[in-house]
Amino acid sequence: MRYEVVLPAAGSGKRMGAGQNKLFLNLADKPILVHTLLVFEHDENCTGIWLAVKDEERPFIQALIDKHNITKVKGLPTGGEERQHSVHSCIKEMSAVDVVLVHDAARPFITIPKITELAKVAYEKGAAIAGVRAKDTMKVVHNGLIKETVDRESLWMVQTPQAFRYDLLAEAEDVAEKVGFLGTDEAMLVERLGHDIHIVECSYENVKMTTQEDLIFGEAILKQRK
Ligand code: CTP
Ligand code: MG
Repeated sequence: MRYEVVLPAAGSGKRMGAGQNKLFLNLADKPILVHTLLVFEHDENCTGIWLAVKDEERPFIQALIDKHNITKVKGLPTGGEERQHSVHSCIKEMSAVDVVLVHDAARPFITIPKITELAKVAYEKGAAIAGVRAKDTMKVVHNGLIKETVDRESLWMVQTPQAFRYDLLAEAEDVAEKVGFLGTDEAMLVERLGHDIHIVECSYENVKMTTQEDLIFGEAILKQRK
């Protein structure tokens, strides 16, 4: 299934504490952002890449795109205050396609077979997101005290890519904007429309580079894949 991908890249990386956009930090020999771009560049089903960026970082990102011969970037719209705004700016700028994927630029270890599966389920059913089963025992805590232990069987940690029929995601984002709803992922916006969302079991390797220790994990993944 062919698709276009939106990569929100306009964050600040506060939790990484690197004093710059964490996407510019190197993993092995390349910036995190370049690793992510190359996955989609190499996937033959990907027909276009949209990057939400900060205005002041656009020249640097364009230089990275040129240096690494990334050919599929169709636009670099200006991102917003929150991730949702950044994604929305890409959705508004692109033309309608059958399937659109949203993927955190900070998750460089996603694999092409998983992307293919997500795009296929999204095309057939409307919405599909990547996730992994919770590994630890999960409890609800209020004011430092255990309230209850939640049945782990039903708990998933969700990731990106999140894949949708374009029209469904565009509608969900427009509605969210209109009523001022802010979600932490795209699925939340689609859930509000009452649409089913399918989960596709992904890998614990599809980690988001968020804090310093994620970089150590990231280097280890690259080493083991070599
Ligand atoms: N992102 C974005 N626009 C924002 C905020 C985040 O495009 N206003 C992007 C980030 O660049 C990242 C992805 O969304 O690729 C996931 O967000 P997150 O991991 O939270 O990155 P940051 O917001 O940069 O990090 P932090 O929350 O620690 O500041
Ligand atoms: Mg953030």
